Amino acid sequence: MRTYKILFSPTGGTERVADILTGRLAENAVTIDLCDRSVDFSTFSFTAEDVCVVAVPSYGGRVPAIAVHRLSLLHGNGAKAILVSVYGNREFEDTLVELKDTLDASGFVSVAAVAAIAEHSIARQFAAGRPDAEDTRELEGFADAIHIRLAENSPPELALPGNRPYKSFGGLPMHPGADKSCVACGICAESCPVGAIPMDDPRKTDNEKCITCMRCVRVCPQGSRNLNKLALAATAQKLKKVCSVRKQNTLF
Ligand SMILES: Cc1cc2nc3c(=O)[nH]c(=O)nc-3n(C[C@H](O)[C@H](O)[C@H](O)COP(=O)(O)O)c2cc1C
Repeated sequence: MRTYKILFSPTGGTERVADILTGRLAENAVTIDLCDRSVDFSTFSFTAEDVCVVAVPSYGGRVPAIAVHRLSLLHGNGAKAILVSVYGNREFEDTLVELKDTLDASGFVSVAAVAAIAEHSIARQFAAGRPDAEDTRELEGFADAIHIRLAENSPPELALPGNRPYKSFGGLPMHPGADKSCVACGICAESCPVGAIPMDDPRKTDNEKCITCMRCVRVCPQGSRNLNKLALAATAQKLKKVCSVRKQNTLF
């Protein structure tokens, strides 16, 4: 039996939640990084004894499409999955049902699900500093409950909130670009999960490929990559009403 941490975490919030849960469940979990576009995910095959913590951020209430694609390449072979949807204090809507459906189709058996809050990766003033100490205590308690559930012979079918068909999300109409301070070091191009920044000209962004995951903004050592200030301010204004009250982590 092995424990795996399978995650898509462009800016690290999803990873922080996954680390708290996985760290409590097992000492030496193996990490599979769904952001790494150099990996052939079809080479991963699991067994029914394995436990996989599968963590994704919610984008528009959905699983990011590239994460769905990469998860669909895995061979679950009856491995137990713990589903984790991390969101920026607005809502996660259909993320957990879509994650379950994706993993069902890849041969995993979902035994538990968690919706957890992390800093909003676009408008970072929302859920700033989360997961915090209170979240950590709560998530560790969830992990202990999951540990007990994993020992049960036939865990009950998961009842998850969310709708099918899923709500539609076609991406955001804004994409980060580089300003004059860019030194074309290529760090952003290397780490972009979808290859939207050309290695030979990292000042550019392919807006057709870009999923606005904000990784390039986060990793740029010069602080050169940013969203358009006006578009960002308008988004923050829209989110203010729905993101301001502290939401709770939930175990299903
Ligand atoms: C394109 C995009 C769409 C998002 N949509 C939502 C959403 O629908 N609801 C929400 O609460 N947070 C939303 N967020 C915030 C992220 O779910 C949240 O910040 C998450 O922790 C980001 O994960 P990461 O830090 O691992 O990249 C969105 C972020 C991005 C980049």
